[in-house]
Amino acid sequence: SSEKLWGGRFTGGQDPLMTAYNESIYYDRAFYSQDIRGSIAWARANKNKGILNEQEFAEIERGLKEVEDEWKSGKFSIKPGVDEDIHTANERRLGEIIGKNIAGKLHTGRSRNEQVAVDMRMWLREQLENIESFLVDLLKVIAARSEQEIEHVMPGYTHLQRAQPIRWSHWMLSYGLAFANDLERLREVKQRVNRSPLGCGALAGNPFGIDRDAMAKELGFDTLIYNSMAGVADRDFVVETMQWGSMLMLHLSRWAEDLIIYSSAEFNFVRLADAYSTGSSLMPQKKNPDSLELIRGKAGRAYGQMAGLMMTIKGIPSTYNKDLQESVEPMLDHVKTVGDSIQIATGVLSTLNIQPKNMLASLSPDMLATDLADYLVRKGVPFRETHHISGRVVALAEEKSTPMDKLSYEQLKGVDSRFEEDILEVFDYQKSVEMRSASGGTSKSSVLEQIKVIKQTIEKK
Ligand code: ARG
Repeated sequence: SSEKLWGGRFTGGQDPLMTAYNESIYYDRAFYSQDIRGSIAWARANKNKGILNEQEFAEIERGLKEVEDEWKSGKFSIKPGVDEDIHTANERRLGEIIGKNIAGKLHTGRSRNEQVAVDMRMWLREQLENIESFLVDLLKVIAARSEQEIEHVMPGYTHLQRAQPIRWSHWMLSYGLAFANDLERLREVKQRVNRSPLGCGALAGNPFGIDRDAMAKELGFDTLIYNSMAGVADRDFVVETMQWGSMLMLHLSRWAEDLIIYSSAEFNFVRLADAYSTGSSLMPQKKNPDSLELIRGKAGRAYGQMAGLMMTIKGIPSTYNKDLQESVEPMLDHVKTVGDSIQIATGVLSTLNIQPKNMLASLSPDMLATDLADYLVRKGVPFRETHHISGRVVALAEEKSTPMDKLSYEQLKGVDSRFEEDILEVFDYQKSVEMRSASGGTSKSSVLEQIKVIKQTIEKK
């Protein structure tokens, strides 16, 4: 165990299971490049303080770049039982390449506590950049389809019961606006992720007057974390990302659920492309919406990681404790789950085959009962009264087994004498959606306005 970087005070060997239990290298190697970039910035700042001379810095930089190349080309060989994490692995290898005399100076004043926080933040901000672009792609597909398919009218539901006619685009945009909010929130989260803990030390700060601003600038951070204890203790940036991702997955999951329902034979509003479906090993006729079910299922997994990490953190005393290592795997998995899910959703939506005729055929005249009530409101009758009158028309249609729009003018007049001949014009789905032209409604103008809102959110940055 003296081979370990921290082996100085240890004499006994380690339980092999403890070694495996403790090591994070098999997943935190994901941060190899961030770790090396961070070390180069660290070495440069130490050179500027006279801790390293020019030649030592040049050697360290050269060595670290070689280590990075080894990782990149898959040639880095992890030393089992010795390389416990990415930080120790890189430093061990650096020593082999440039010699321990110089490599041994790199860690002056530095702690892995700050190193891991730096690595995670740099890794995460790059991932969040990707995720932002995936989300923008999804929003663009929603905006484009909503524009192209604005003519199609379908049933809108409450309680999964037919409620009022809406535009198909209005349905798409109802989620589009939720995703646009997710985009706004993501841009905020990114700001808090991108703050530098480098120079915080193990917990108390740096004793050599290191220029934290210069390091932060070199590494592309927006600003510093201004309390060294907070710098090493903080995993809020991971929690916040996962809370963000959980909300996004919540939206994606409900969206997926709608499409699963709409793709059933009973609805048949949409058909999934083969690219996002699978078959049954037993039933030859089946085409299942597995992509959407996985989105719905993975939402649960994403929440689990968020809740799990919050529970891990909530009871630990201040600054660094090894519990914090448990923030790495959930972060890696969560970010992949969320990023993949958005891309799958975009794929599903951009290849989705819609069945406007079936949407239209699923509309029924009773869905215009509100419009019937509104007709009398326009004649000055109080809504509470018109609601009852329209209800009696619905009952009459049921009693006569006649669709509401097929009742005669005389029959309607019999229910209420204030119905005039233009009442028959109410039974028109296009007209019904066009009536709802106040902002946020399902009329064409309101739908176009929503598309504009989405486009503006994309552009805001
Ligand atoms: N692998 C560790 C982690 O992910 C790095 C920090 C270890 N620090 C320490 N003092 N043991 O949290």
